[in-house]
Amino acid sequence: MGSIHVEFRELSPSEFFYRYREIAGYSNPTRAFYQTVKELIENALDACDSHGILPSVKVEIEEVDIKKLHYMITVEDNGIGVSPKHVPKAFGQVLYGSKYKQRQTRGIFGLGVKMAILYGQVTTGKPVIVITKPIRSKYRWLFKIRIDIKKNRPIILHKESWKDENGEHGTKVSIVIEGDWFKAKSRIHEYVKRTAIATPYAEIFFKDPQGRTLHYPRKTTNLPPIPKEIKPHPHGVDVEMLKALILTTKTTNLLDFLSKTFQNIGEKSAKEFLKYAHLDPSIKPSKLTIDDLSSLAKKLKEYPFKPPKGNALSPLGEEIIAIGLRSVLEPEFVTTVSRKPSAYSGHPFIIEVGIAYGGKIPVKEYPQLYRFANKIPLLYDEKACVMWKMVSEINWKNYNIEFPAPLAILIHICSTKIPFKGVGKESIAEVPEIEKEIRKALREAGRRLRKHVERKRREREAMEKIIAIAKYIPEVSKNLAELSKASKGKGVSSKELENILYSLLEMKAKKMGIGSINIKQLIKGKHRKTLPQPQSKQSKKQLDLLQFI
Ligand SMILES: Nc1ncnc2c1ncn2[C@@H]1O[C@H](COP(=O)(O)OP(=O)(O)OP(=O)(O)O)[C@@H](O)[C@H]1O
Ligand SMILES: [Mg+2]
Repeated sequence: MGSIHVEFRELSPSEFFYRYREIAGYSNPTRAFYQTVKELIENALDACDSHGILPSVKVEIEEVDIKKLHYMITVEDNGIGVSPKHVPKAFGQVLYGSKYKQRQTRGIFGLGVKMAILYGQVTTGKPVIVITKPIRSKYRWLFKIRIDIKKNRPIILHKESWKDENGEHGTKVSIVIEGDWFKAKSRIHEYVKRTAIATPYAEIFFKDPQGRTLHYPRKTTNLPPIPKEIKPHPHGVDVEMLKALILTTKTTNLLDFLSKTFQNIGEKSAKEFLKYAHLDPSIKPSKLTIDDLSSLAKKLKEYPFKPPKGNALSPLGEEIIAIGLRSVLEPEFVTTVSRKPSAYSGHPFIIEVGIAYGGKIPVKEYPQLYRFANKIPLLYDEKACVMWKMVSEINWKNYNIEFPAPLAILIHICSTKIPFKGVGKESIAEVPEIEKEIRKALREAGRRLRKHVERKRREREAMEKIIAIAKYIPEVSKNLAELSKASKGKGVSSKELENILYSLLEMKAKKMGIGSINIKQLIKGKHRKTLPQPQSKQSKKQLDLLQFI
């Protein structure tokens, strides 16, 4: 037997994600194109709305070398900018970011833009270019950065700054990647469109490599509330988290530590909890052993503290959802439901649902689902997502919807921790509490849709009835005219009688909720388009007959 020599070495986070880039959404040039645009737009919007700034975002994709499929993606925002001190690591070190907080943001991992930069670097050899002017700074900075994959460190290739005293601020990031524009095109356009639905308070310009420019103007200046940072909830802690919290606490006893560190624990509830957990309130937190911490974490999880508060979250709100759906989909009917905050494993979340029906929504065999998580549109892995599962579990017949139908459903979840299934942030795990909230929101919105469809159906049926009756008016008028001649000599003309009967019928139509119609003009063929068209074959025939008359 030869000698067995096993070599061990460390793998840097950059190298890990470079090797397994598929898990972050970089599996092929089409998906990578989409993912790069998505990461840059997410960061741009986070830099604005999370800080109370109405976003203005410019996205431009340019051809660099068509034969090699090299494209430059540039996204510019009017956000808070990045301090030059942090630019190198924020754009050159995997797992470095400003969003590792109990706060609702689109970004969470400190990975997104670096994955795009890494992918660009290995496919085209080009560095990222970052131009940024932090808010309140008098300087604009330009960096060209490459990532040292082995060391997971930024390599600054170029750095310069210049005085720029206009009041503007924001960041412009350009990345060159190898991508398949023609295959990625429709997804990227769809992504931008969906971003406009969820952020109608943003102004978005998009120029694609074929020179097509799209402008999604700002539809409202109402920003959703700025998400606040919140303290951890006791139901969400574990040993590691306790260790980290103890390391930074200034408190000197367990009672103070619990009441000052956690959400929903005050002095009174801390005392009650410590009694329940058989722990000494005066013990120094740093003196707790690993066994103590493990039992403390277990007890914190099981004790019935009040659920986490959702007031630090930033839901879109019913008005913004309705504006977004109306402006982009142009439907006939919209209803929205924004549920009260709920929680899973100590993390607060809010579910919002919007249903759009009819109008310009294409008729499809299934509902068109628009998924959003912390305002990010989710386009891939639809069938693996809890939102798809909940929509497909609904029996739409109960809501008077028979497919094919023009039905679009928007679902938004916002949370300080979205349970994504992967770092590509495309689908959400089946968490029972989340499932329950989605189901409730869908049912509530569904009930309102049913009312609308029901009302429309009643109107249509009433119209059909009116048309069917109107059909007999000329004949009846003629007969009545004959009768009146017999009894009064000169009698009443059939035209006069027709007019009387038509206006009676019009009054009846108004009472039946159809609104104002002019039956005579309908017969003459005028205003036909403004009237609801009858559905059944029989009533169509009657309308034909009526029009013929
Ligand atoms: N356009 C921008 N404006 C301001 N800051 C930015 C911008 N782009 C990136 N940053 C900063 O760089 C950091 C790293 O971005 P990156 O996309 O890698 O991670 P993230 O957004 O924190 O999380 P995720 O991996 O989920 O995207 C961000 O946390 C943010 O502080
Ligand atoms: Mg990001």
